Amino acid sequence: MNYSKKTINDFDPKGKKVLLRCDFNVPIDKKTGEITSNARVTAALPTITHLLKNGAAVIACSHLGKPKGEWKKELSLAPVAKMLSELLGQNVIFAEDIIGEDAKSKAKNLLPGELLLLENLRFDPREEKNDSSFAKELASLADVYVSDAFGTVHRAHASTAGVSEFLPAYAGLLVEKEVSILGRALDNPVRPFVSVLGGAKVSDKIGVINNLLQKADTIIIGGGMAYTFLKAEGIEIGKSLLEEDKIDYAKEMINKAQEKGVRLLVPIDNLCATEFSADSTPILIEGDIPSDMMGMDIGPKTIKLFSDALIGAGTIVWNGPMGVFEFANFAGGTMSLAKAVAESGATTIVGGGDSASAVEKSGFADKITHISTGGGASLEFLEGIDLPGIACLLDK
Ligand code: 3PG
Repeated sequence: MNYSKKTINDFDPKGKKVLLRCDFNVPIDKKTGEITSNARVTAALPTITHLLKNGAAVIACSHLGKPKGEWKKELSLAPVAKMLSELLGQNVIFAEDIIGEDAKSKAKNLLPGELLLLENLRFDPREEKNDSSFAKELASLADVYVSDAFGTVHRAHASTAGVSEFLPAYAGLLVEKEVSILGRALDNPVRPFVSVLGGAKVSDKIGVINNLLQKADTIIIGGGMAYTFLKAEGIEIGKSLLEEDKIDYAKEMINKAQEKGVRLLVPIDNLCATEFSADSTPILIEGDIPSDMMGMDIGPKTIKLFSDALIGAGTIVWNGPMGVFEFANFAGGTMSLAKAVAESGATTIVGGGDSASAVEKSGFADKITHISTGGGASLEFLEGIDLPGIACLLDK
């Protein structure tokens, strides 16, 4: 993938109307409807401020949740407009629609230095279909398109890719930062390069493991996905998470790692339980897991093995928790790894989603070099595949 894209520093925003795609897909408390983290809104501020200060009129847009083409009041971006206005210290004009009368007239009358936020793009079914007529109408609101929605660059939607057919397309500062940090880790890492992969499923990480086997010096595998690897090594895993159809793939990866001289580490002991419950008592098992038990976290010997493998690393990329960290009894492995990553002295990059919230929970977030705002996007980036929301931007 060509990471070298034109950015907002490559055009003069003065007097331009800029359509700015952000990722304001913020977490919302289902019971109270409150936004529970402002991280994604805060991450968009440098680009917004740059454009406004330099005389652009900014028309921001985003999706929120998965309304599947229907108008859903609880997924309105109105609360985000309020949050954005508070964080920015300036009024944010909100359009009640996306490309309807309200949006069109507010966009038309928008002055340099003013900010308009459109309603949730996914209220229109044409957004996710990357419908060209929808993209054209969105584009007609502005003179220039800027993508700062790193969390959504893996989606080929009208607002993330389609609009670039109709407007000159530039990267915002967040996209530039994410792409340069992740890109450097993949293509020119300070070695040794250690990758820590976790999370529930092997199937989510197939492409990532494959790509990282070409790049990393050590790959550490924990979390639910580790049990399919243990099974592939002939170890009994009881009732632990297993993807039967991925055992051969796991064997292939183990062999490939050996051929390439990549150190591949899997758990040597596990905290297990008989039930998948927050109240289950952790039972430490080394080797074969009894048939009535399931692995829920890595054990102390594995924590030491994994932590030692991080000592002296030049670059660490971490994606996916080591166990069921949502349950306090089984959070120890993930929290210990967070500490070891944070104290490693390496350039440390944590993929978004679960890994980001685990690191926030650990209290070590401020010691991590970069926590990505992209969950699926950072994962697909690590797979090394072309991401439509980056590919569509103008090359330098
Ligand atoms: C995310 O939260 O990962 C992005 O905003 C993309 O959201 P999506 O998975 O609903 O496309």
